[in-house]
Amino acid sequence: MKKFSIHTLLSLSLLLAVAFVFSAFGVKPKSKSPDKVYLFAYATEKNSGKNGLHFAWSNDKLNWYAIGNEYSFLKCDYGSWSTQKRMLDPFLFKDQNGLWHCLWSVNEADGVLAHAASKDLVNWQPQSYPLLMDKATFEDKSLGSVQDLEVTSKNGTYTLTWLSGGMGGTVFTNTTNDFKKYTETQGGLVNNRLDIRKDVRVAGEMQQGTITEVDWSVVDNLKKTVDAANYKRESNQASAKTDSVLFAKLKPLTANIVIDASQSKKISNMLMGVFFEDINYAADGGLYAELIQNRDFEYALSDKEGKDAKWNHTTAWSGTFRLDSVNAIHKNNAHYAVLINSTITNSGFDGIAVKAADKYNFSLFAKGAKCTVKLKDATGTVVAQTTISPNGYWKKYTAVLKPSKTVANAVLEISTMGETAVDMVSLFPQKTYKGRSNGLREDLAQTVAGLHPRFMRFPGGCVAHGDGIGNIYRWKNTIGPLESRVPQRNLWGYHQTVGLGYFEYFQYCEDMQSEPVPVLAAGVPCQNSAVGGAGQQFGIPMEHMDEYVQDVLDLIEYANGAVTTTWGKKRAEAGHSKPFNLKYIGIGNEDLITDVFEERYTMIVNAVKKKYPNITIIGTVGPFFEGADYVEGWKIADKLQLPMVDEHYYQTPGWFVNNQDFYDSYDRSKSKVYLGEYASWGSSVYNALAEALYLTALERNGDVVSMASYAPLLAKENHTQWNPDLVYFNNTEVKPTVNYYVQQLYGQNPGDSYIQSFTELSDNSAEVQKRIGISVVKDSKSGDVIVKLVNMLPVAVTPQMELQDITPKGPVSYTTFKGNANAKSNVLPVTAAVSLSEAVSKELAPYSFTVIRIKTK
Ligand code: AHR
Repeated sequence: MKKFSIHTLLSLSLLLAVAFVFSAFGVKPKSKSPDKVYLFAYATEKNSGKNGLHFAWSNDKLNWYAIGNEYSFLKCDYGSWSTQKRMLDPFLFKDQNGLWHCLWSVNEADGVLAHAASKDLVNWQPQSYPLLMDKATFEDKSLGSVQDLEVTSKNGTYTLTWLSGGMGGTVFTNTTNDFKKYTETQGGLVNNRLDIRKDVRVAGEMQQGTITEVDWSVVDNLKKTVDAANYKRESNQASAKTDSVLFAKLKPLTANIVIDASQSKKISNMLMGVFFEDINYAADGGLYAELIQNRDFEYALSDKEGKDAKWNHTTAWSGTFRLDSVNAIHKNNAHYAVLINSTITNSGFDGIAVKAADKYNFSLFAKGAKCTVKLKDATGTVVAQTTISPNGYWKKYTAVLKPSKTVANAVLEISTMGETAVDMVSLFPQKTYKGRSNGLREDLAQTVAGLHPRFMRFPGGCVAHGDGIGNIYRWKNTIGPLESRVPQRNLWGYHQTVGLGYFEYFQYCEDMQSEPVPVLAAGVPCQNSAVGGAGQQFGIPMEHMDEYVQDVLDLIEYANGAVTTTWGKKRAEAGHSKPFNLKYIGIGNEDLITDVFEERYTMIVNAVKKKYPNITIIGTVGPFFEGADYVEGWKIADKLQLPMVDEHYYQTPGWFVNNQDFYDSYDRSKSKVYLGEYASWGSSVYNALAEALYLTALERNGDVVSMASYAPLLAKENHTQWNPDLVYFNNTEVKPTVNYYVQQLYGQNPGDSYIQSFTELSDNSAEVQKRIGISVVKDSKSGDVIVKLVNMLPVAVTPQMELQDITPKGPVSYTTFKGNANAKSNVLPVTAAVSLSEAVSKELAPYSFTVIRIKTK
């Protein structure tokens, strides 16, 4: 033990005593920093005003120093990504309780104000967007917006004044005590403005904003926040390229690993599942096997918000026909085509792919003259044909087409000699996944099933809560006869037939032996909505919320109710009298956590809890792993005692490497976690391994993380709105990414208890250590012990594993997934049977993922 001299001990005690006096009596040691400085809050015009809140500080109000230059301390979350999310003219002030408030204008049209509060200017509470103009004014955008807002306070009451964009500079005013409730807006006042904003030059550019005197510690904290964020951002940029520099001198390593089965804990056996959303043409033109596009002539300009004049009832059709709606086949399917001595051709979704050996069910609703139906290849050669002889009234006709050859891009032609009305023109392969009628494309459905998902989430993502209230996904619109379903605009910019609807989703889950996890809107649309009032706005009007809550309850009855119940009967009519045995229901999808949200969410959650206490409700905690929505979402989850919440994050591979401890500190007594959407940005082996590494941490935290699903799942080439995705496809090929194989290996090798292991590496540096992942689980059913090892280093690692309390039986299954870190294809897992002694000491290749499956019974 090190010895201290009496002098050293005396000096130490003196130092401690001085420190005590300073802290006890509030005396600060002298520092070179000033006590008080000025803080300037502003937003730049750059990026159409989407840059958010910035700060600069000054000693003398003359020289201003930007804090973090481009760093934004608060970003506006109002409205759609494309044109909104703007912070204009922020107004910052501190209230008498020391709480900071930032208010700003969101655009030049909407009569709303944006508000957020913070204790430290770093962590902000959820934003709110109160409507300061009445609703009529709001809807008539020419009338008034909130511009140049100022706030003054007296005895805890805040007076807001602003200029109206559309009313020739008229001044409006109202008051609030809490920034939640506002008095009625008064307009047309004389100009009583104080013009509090100041012009300041920061980094060579003039900016306008507010100045507040603050303690130096406030600025110091802001500076430290920027430094920490920059450091994190930098270290999250890890890539194979940065690795080659960082580990240039690293030699192959050894790893002593002790696996001790006497130390284990129960974990979720539901960890790996899939997230299905109709994004990237994942449903129509994708998983849903229908080959005719726009079969019902219901495509509409509004599907693309009128931005594509060619997107209408004629999309995918050519030839001459008239669109009619008189006496339609169903009110929900209002349009049909009338052919008069003409031919119309459907080109499918980028062509119709048919195989010579297969049979295809053709059907249509028709009335009028006889017509011929032909499948033709690109040269115009007929490969299959049939004739339909309709009557004078609507009737469904069917025929089986057997193509004489395989064609990748056929077209379907309907010709008539006379006048024929047609609707719901359909061509469906007889071979669908599990042979279901109105079923799923076999190869794609099989690829998803090949992941061995324990659950499937649907129908989104953002598709679930929709672009505006009218676009919320309503499950009742998606069941029943196809011609009676209510098609709608897909918020990803195309059309949903909902031919793949709730019944088909439930059936697919059952066919894959996966638990269905439907996610329903929490009574509010997506906060990024552009239609019907920007953002989440007012939510479903409260007077319609009972009806909406009933819809949610009815879904559970549809899935689980007896055939004698109203909705159980509808399920039986669709061909499934047995219940689907629904156990989970998601409410909300990464919503903005506002009062509007909370009121509706609480109503739905309480109603489900009351009527169906055995259903596991999955709540929502925003789109990120941090921030106001995450914090507030978790608070509400605690308040409502939700069994589970849905977390989402898309990050760099480096983030996943650096955040393996994310769930280690989660409170096990609170809600469990469903990591409903996650992916590292990219489709290379490096990304796949970052995900594999992170999944070792999820298994370790399997006592709090119950489920996880990579997102998005499917993407059709040339129709992709979001990258990366797990599986790409076109009409004839399915192309799983390398990330797919990591998901698959986890899906094939789940456990229900987690076994403790201890690893000692020959290099102990933190950067090396965090790139080696190990997770050991046991599957109680098979008795197998499964060891997963991730080596995310550019050097080989030779393990020496010691198995304690495990009695292996027979040979071991040893699967390796390895490749060039930048490779994006041609990297497949390879499985071999090896001896136990080989398995526990076999070299782990650079950039590899290994799964060892040891039988114990
Ligand atoms: O997975 C794609 C999208 O990402 C989802 O629709 C949404 O929930 C998230 O923002």
